[in-house]
Amino acid sequence: MSEPTTAWALRTAGLHKTYPGRRVPVPAVDRLDLNVPAGGVHGFLGPNGSGKTTTIRMVLGLIRADAGRIEIFGTEVPRHLPEVVNRVGAIVEQPKFFPAFTARRNLELLATGIGVPDERVGAVLEEVGLAQRSRDRYKTYSLGMKQRLAIAATLLKDPDLLIFDEPTNGLDPAGIHAIRQTMRHLTQQGKTVLVSSHILAEVQQVADTVSIIGRGRLLAEGRVDDILAGAAHGVRVRVPDPPAAHRLLTEAGFGCVTAADGAMNVSTAPDGSPVDPGGLNRFLAERGVYASELSRDLANLEQVFLQLTAADTLGTVPPAPPATHPPVLRQPPPAGADVPPPDGSGRR
Ligand SMILES: Nc1ncnc2c1ncn2[C@@H]1O[C@H](COP(=O)(O)OP(=O)(O)OP(=O)(O)O)[C@@H](O)[C@H]1O
Ligand SMILES: [Mg+2]
Repeated sequence: MSEPTTAWALRTAGLHKTYPGRRVPVPAVDRLDLNVPAGGVHGFLGPNGSGKTTTIRMVLGLIRADAGRIEIFGTEVPRHLPEVVNRVGAIVEQPKFFPAFTARRNLELLATGIGVPDERVGAVLEEVGLAQRSRDRYKTYSLGMKQRLAIAATLLKDPDLLIFDEPTNGLDPAGIHAIRQTMRHLTQQGKTVLVSSHILAEVQQVADTVSIIGRGRLLAEGRVDDILAGAAHGVRVRVPDPPAAHRLLTEAGFGCVTAADGAMNVSTAPDGSPVDPGGLNRFLAERGVYASELSRDLANLEQVFLQLTAADTLGTVPPAPPATHPPVLRQPPPAGADVPPPDGSGRR
């Protein structure tokens, strides 16, 4: 960590955590190096169970790391957490509000508790777009409004770094849009937002930079644009039976992922070369699979994520980016590799 500390809102080095008492002691977070630049939205992406919440809990000092180092704005935590605690606001779990009290009253109580003047309450309600509804009781709030109130609560201290763990879970598109706008607006004030998610399309629209993890390990990091530019583009195919076609293609050695909308993205031919649409169409047709749609595909974050996490699960190397772009994809360390001994500085 030799760069100027002000450039980074959050950094971790060799962060490691294995939960005690698990039958198979698989690390939840495995020697994780995170680099979150100061300013902007940073997406912290990974499938369910990949270690996002565990990482965030360690950063916030809610659980202890087994090893590794964490810095918030250049200050080592949790050792010196009191020095930076006021610069960080976070939502990790749904905060507890009093159902029968209005949103405003709930925030006023919180503000008093942390020694923040009452005027902040109006400002944060305005910030999240709840000023008009602030006299309504909390129990009458929709899920999206509750989530915006949770964000408002984190803003009371006017922190520089906001950490939101899956803030849009369960929200409809309008609710997601509102939270995305709030995140954007916060970065316009110079704040840094770290947002964890497994909903890639949503993160792609709002994040400047991302870290993608799988099984507790960093698989890729960098600017969204660079990651997309370095990804294999591939061919988008729609077929009547995606799972059967997916099996057929992967058994033949094609690099293939199926997106949430059921369309497949085929990135590489069995020899590892970029896939050719004509050859792919012929391969499928010869096996009685007729594509209803087949087109060259521009990479999106969901495909990169699926390719990386599929490669990680299979223990294979993700496709290398073209030489014209900086190498943003990292090969994960071999599964089961020895964990380096903790350096002592991070042991708590
Ligand atoms: N308190 C705990 N005790 C034991 N194992 C745990 C505990 N909390 C999490 N784990 C395990 O650690 C791993 C990482 O979990 P974590 O909740 O950090 O993942 P996540 O990326 O936040 O997942 P999700 O997207 O589902 O929220 C999982 O295998 C999970 O089962
Ligand atoms: Mg989680």
